[in-house]
Amino acid sequence: MKYWHTKYPKRFDLKTDEDYKKWREEKLAAYPENVGDLVVELADMTAITDAEKSRILELVELANMCVYTAGAAELGSDALLTLGAQLGVTDTDKSTRHPKSDELTDSGILNKAIPFSTRHVRWHTDATYYGSNKTVQALFLLCKRAALKGGSNKVLDNEILYILLRDKEPEALATLMEKDCFNYKNPKTGEVSQHLGGRVFWTNPDGHLCHRFSFRKMDMAWPEDSEVLAARDCLESLILNESGYVIEGRLESGMGLISNNVIHTREKLVDSDDASNKRLLFRARYYDRVNAC
Ligand SMILES: [Fe+2]
Repeated sequence: MKYWHTKYPKRFDLKTDEDYKKWREEKLAAYPENVGDLVVELADMTAITDAEKSRILELVELANMCVYTAGAAELGSDALLTLGAQLGVTDTDKSTRHPKSDELTDSGILNKAIPFSTRHVRWHTDATYYGSNKTVQALFLLCKRAALKGGSNKVLDNEILYILLRDKEPEALATLMEKDCFNYKNPKTGEVSQHLGGRVFWTNPDGHLCHRFSFRKMDMAWPEDSEVLAARDCLESLILNESGYVIEGRLESGMGLISNNVIHTREKLVDSDDASNKRLLFRARYYDRVNAC
């Protein structure tokens, strides 16, 4: 472990450069080059060993994510929740959501919302619609059945995005960290909630970087504030430029993702016509995060 959190506690403080510069150098030098560098093979995801846990935590420190293989465990939601508990995350948003919303398959639920379809999903973090005080910080996935074709993901560590912005567009980053940039908008009624939404980047009470953003704006209301809109445009073009830090891979059956809600896409997919063979991923989203201290 690098212990960056205690070594460079001011790395997300825009008023001082010292911690940022040292951490940036170490972080970029240690960042995994491809999806293969992110993989941890587990003998049983429901009973991980100390060595497996250390490797997961190390990778999450380096990239805010890792890819794992489930091992002997039965692939399902329970196994995913057990994995989370072993890594210290237990506070899911399941009680507030549709009972099937954590089974990602072409079911057409929630008015055919895009995760439950075969369509391409643009860059987003999960659950942009909570308030800044209680938001989804961790996203776990487990694949039971992959698509016949397609359905791969691109992922980008939010801390890398922060570095790219701080280096190239510091004013935009300051706006995205300091201003309440958007509010939740009910996509059906258009009603805007003043209590949900907020900043795009911020630090939680423990000093970890949180991030939320989506290219899909149907449930986001952005203000007529030229500074905020310009910062948003900077962020979008930076993401679309797809820096060399973007990692791409497909979760096959028995593989999963552990992440601190990193920004991601999903490629469109071709699914089986047989309902019992459709692509199926289990998902867990947590208000807490991996490597919280
Ligand atoms: Fe997602």
